[in-house]
This record gives sequence, structure tokens and C-alpha cells, in this order.
Amino acid sequence: MFTKTPPMGWNSWNTFADKISEDLILETADAMIERGLKDAGYEYIVIDDCWSLRERDENGDIVTDPVKFPHGMKYLADKIHEKGLKFGMYSCAGVKTCAGFPSSYHNEFRDAKLFASFGIDFLKYDFCNVPQGANGPLLYHTMSLALKESGRDILFSACNWGADHVETWIRSCGAGMYRSTGDIMDKYNSFRDIALSQKDKYAYAGIGCFNDTDMLIVGMKNKGNVALGGCTDTEYKTHFAVWCFCASPLMMGCDLRNVDETSLALMKNKGLLRINQDVECRTPFICGDNGKNGLCWFRHLSDNEYALMFVNYGDKNAEITLDLDKIGLWDGCGHGLKIKDVFTGKTETVSRTKTKRVDAHDCAVYVCKTVEL
Ligand code: GLA
Repeated sequence: MFTKTPPMGWNSWNTFADKISEDLILETADAMIERGLKDAGYEYIVIDDCWSLRERDENGDIVTDPVKFPHGMKYLADKIHEKGLKFGMYSCAGVKTCAGFPSSYHNEFRDAKLFASFGIDFLKYDFCNVPQGANGPLLYHTMSLALKESGRDILFSACNWGADHVETWIRSCGAGMYRSTGDIMDKYNSFRDIALSQKDKYAYAGIGCFNDTDMLIVGMKNKGNVALGGCTDTEYKTHFAVWCFCASPLMMGCDLRNVDETSLALMKNKGLLRINQDVECRTPFICGDNGKNGLCWFRHLSDNEYALMFVNYGDKNAEITLDLDKIGLWDGCGHGLKIKDVFTGKTETVSRTKTKRVDAHDCAVYVCKTVEL
């Protein structure tokens, strides 16, 4: 499926892992609607690993676990479609999925047909248990061709964790998004390390294929499968802001049925989503660096607007400076920036430099326009 802006939705893995069921999926779809997340743009409900039995049937097809999903996947897909949402599932390029379930290696066309018969709109394709000597990139090419032949328009979400210089070839195989990093955990260091590791990779994201820096941990509050201490509200705010700023797909990972109001408001923040979903999909660049992991980022948006972010990945409060010279507004050019805080709505004009004091692990994000001084 051709995707013009970063896909948005929910995935079962971060919180539920193998504890998935038809009820959970339908309740999550309802929560997505009732909590205003569908209206905010989230649309995919994706079942990750652990949805099938351990063995294929006598025809060679993967069998949906009848205890977890008593009415089967077609029923679930239809229900999700009736709610106006899209349905995603998971397989893997190896002989077994990461959790040891049947996987699509040398079964790509058969499995793609089965997934299409269920009515899926999205396939996440993992990279565990690939036979030695197999060509990783070609395995993604094969499944992409199989999905295209399957008769449904399916978004191909590749997940090889950044291996094989994936950013250089993944677009050529037809994927709509691809994991550019290892797995995220629900703790500050995990998303900070992912974000810092991607600084030089953002130019590979663009219309049709987006760098997926992994599912969101916002709102997990140290509960569920990838919990590893949890994050503060400030840290979730920075995580979400950075994922938005850098055009990552936004796949929520918390329990939407019980998500707290602060996390919910964050994931619906209009200014941040406007940046994430900008139709021009331009690359953010660093325009300030305090040498202690305090960074200032700038990004061109559509409609002659811009996005500006100060982010302090350091463990102490710090000052980060934006110098307009660094975005091309040279001293004496007669122009500055009018900036609007996406969290408070407060506006101000920057005529030369702006030094922002940012608490440890916090950020500030603005939507801007140039102004004549
Ligand atoms: C890998 C992926 C995760 C998740 C699990 C499922 O670790 O990177 O996102 O899909 O497999 O087993």
C-alpha cells in the first residue's frame, strides 16, 4: 500500500505479547474510537506475534489459535472494518517467528493469500530464525511481491531492526515503513538511545516509506511486556515529540482501555500530529548542539511553516541555543521566526537567537513562520 504520511495505529506487542485475544482486540478498537484517537488519525489495529497455533495444518496453512480467536481472523477483520478502522497482522521472514510460531520463509505466496483472505490491510514482517545463508533483503522483496499479488492493498511493514543497511534498499522492495532500530523498552534510556542512533538516518524517511523507530511506549507506565521501569510523564512527552518530529510511524503500544488522561492528551496533541503527518515529509536537521546531548532541531513543513524542537537528552537541566544563522536566517537579513509552543499555544518572536532552558529529559516544540523584523 502506498502511504503518504507516517502510518498511525496500535500494536499488541509492547503491552500484551502472547496475552492476546479477540476480546482484547475488539475492546482496543472500541477504546481507540471512544477516546478520540481515531478522530486524531490513528487507524490501524495490529496483532503482533503469537496469534497462531504452533504448527501449520495438513495443507501447509498457518492456523489461527481457536482459543484466542474463536471466530477466526476474517470475523475480526470484518468487525474492525465495520468500526471504520484497518486491520493488521504479523509474520516473519524466517522459519519461525521470534516467539517460535510458524513463519513465512518459503511460504510467502501461500501466507500472503491467507492473510488477504482474512482481510488484512497491514503486515508487519519480522526477521527472526532466518536460515543461515539466506539473503535478508531478498526475503523482504519476496513477501512484498507476494502481498502485491494477493488481491488486497496491504501496507508492508518491514521489521529487520536496522540490519543489512536496511535504509539503503528497503524502499526499493516496496515497503511502506521499516524498523530502523532494535526493540524499544519502557524506560528512558531505551528511547533515548534509539533516538540518538537515528540522527543520521532521517533523510531516508519520506513519502511512501517511513523509518519506524519502533512502537510507542507512551502510557505504558511500566505495565506489560516491554516494561523495564517505565518513564515519567515528561519522558513520555519527549519520546512522543521526537517520534512525531522525525516522521516515525505512530503505533501506540499501551493498554488503550486504561490509558491515563495525560498520555491520551499527549498522543492527540494537534501540533505534534500536524508535524508528524506533514504532507511534504521533509527531513529534520540539527541546528544547535550544547555538546551534552542537548539538541535543537528544525524541519520545513508545508504551507510555509516550520517545526522547531529543543530536546535535552542529558541528565541535568541545560541551556540549548537556537541561532537563526544555523537555519539560514543570517544576521542582517531582516527576518526572524514567529514561534508557537505546541503544548501551551504561547507565541513569541525570535529575532536572532533563543536560548531555552530545558529540564533533564524534557523538550519544547514549536510550529513557526518567518516574519519580517
Ligand atoms: C521482534 C520485534 C518486535 C516484536 C517481537 C515479536 O522482537 O522486533 O517488535 O514483533 O519480535 O516476537
